[in-house]
Amino acid sequence: MDIKNNILKKFAKIYGNAEGARVFFAPGRVNLIGEHTDYNGGHVFPCALTLGTYAAVRKREDRKLRFYSMNFSKLGVIESSLDNLKPDKDAGWTNYPKGMMWAFGEKGYKIDCGLDIVVKGNIPHGSGLSSSASVEIVTGYLLKVLFGFEISNQELALIGQYSENKFNGVNCGIMDQFAIAMGRKDCAIFLDTADLSYEYAQVNLQGMKLVISCSNKRRGLGDSKYNERREECETALTEIQAGMGINTLGDLDEQLFEQIKMAIKDEDRRKRARHAVYENRRTIRAVQALKDNDIALFGKLMNESHISLRDDYEVTGEELDTLVEEAWKIDGVIGSRMTGAGFGGCTVSLVKDEAVEKFMEKVGAAYKERIGYAADFYSVEIGSGPCEL
Ligand code: GLA
Repeated sequence: MDIKNNILKKFAKIYGNAEGARVFFAPGRVNLIGEHTDYNGGHVFPCALTLGTYAAVRKREDRKLRFYSMNFSKLGVIESSLDNLKPDKDAGWTNYPKGMMWAFGEKGYKIDCGLDIVVKGNIPHGSGLSSSASVEIVTGYLLKVLFGFEISNQELALIGQYSENKFNGVNCGIMDQFAIAMGRKDCAIFLDTADLSYEYAQVNLQGMKLVISCSNKRRGLGDSKYNERREECETALTEIQAGMGINTLGDLDEQLFEQIKMAIKDEDRRKRARHAVYENRRTIRAVQALKDNDIALFGKLMNESHISLRDDYEVTGEELDTLVEEAWKIDGVIGSRMTGAGFGGCTVSLVKDEAVEKFMEKVGAAYKERIGYAADFYSVEIGSGPCEL
């Protein structure tokens, strides 16, 4: 049975029938290069995946909200109301759709009736492929369609980021929501987060695969560490800003940074800023390499990105380092790096077709041996943005 019928069948089971229910989809994302640059006014290069979140939905006559996730079926139906859109620790995953509904209200889009919703995602849980942003954008998209709001997908991304920042308390940048809302099949998005200008770049995966290695490490402290890195960068920026006429770390190139870096008092903070500056430049070079069809250089820059995230930004950890360093040993691996926020989550590797099986086998065995539990591997495809099915 296809996924649409499957989710509608569940909808009927949970809410009595599925008459008038509609089904929507939003992808997950993987970032190819440009990590922890999006809140520093730098460039990112993510793409949407064919994996994502499906949502079946129907309007209600009252103001009640009912949520059911096929991924967390044990939680059953979680009820709320349009009159009670507040973050709630016990509300689990529903804080993401609720945050989106709240953000719509804040931006002046009036949702005038409640909803019954069933959600099903096929993004591996906790993998760092942005399942939460995917839930946010599928919610935003279904609200836009059901209530007839005139909102562009780019605006949906901004509302998603706003809800994540203000409702869910993670001070994230724009990358995840933008990649998901603006995704295009077989393309990555070269986005300048300083002004949201972007272009699509064709990613030709002929003869190779995009492989995700999921560390299965719980994120734990991740979110607070994320906010901490962001603050370190902001402080570093203020220290070097005096008289420089720059707005973000993304305004600097490597040379200029090396000249003025001693204005940053603390050594750790200097390293964080160094990563932000170098990673941004690396991303620009990587996109050029891809346009020039120089995939070897693209892979080399992916590897350098990981080293910088490991040594300067310090967001990798033994699990991600093991996955990447084992990957580097394998013939046929073009490039490999951690992707997303770090502190757990997953890595992304470009692997020649003929080496994929060996990659999963060897990296998997070495990981289990060293870390004590297994990693999961997925060969993924680049998909499009949100849609109604
Ligand atoms: C998370 C955030 C993004 C971005 C990445 C790191 O995924 O949500 O905004 O900062 O981490 O590149």
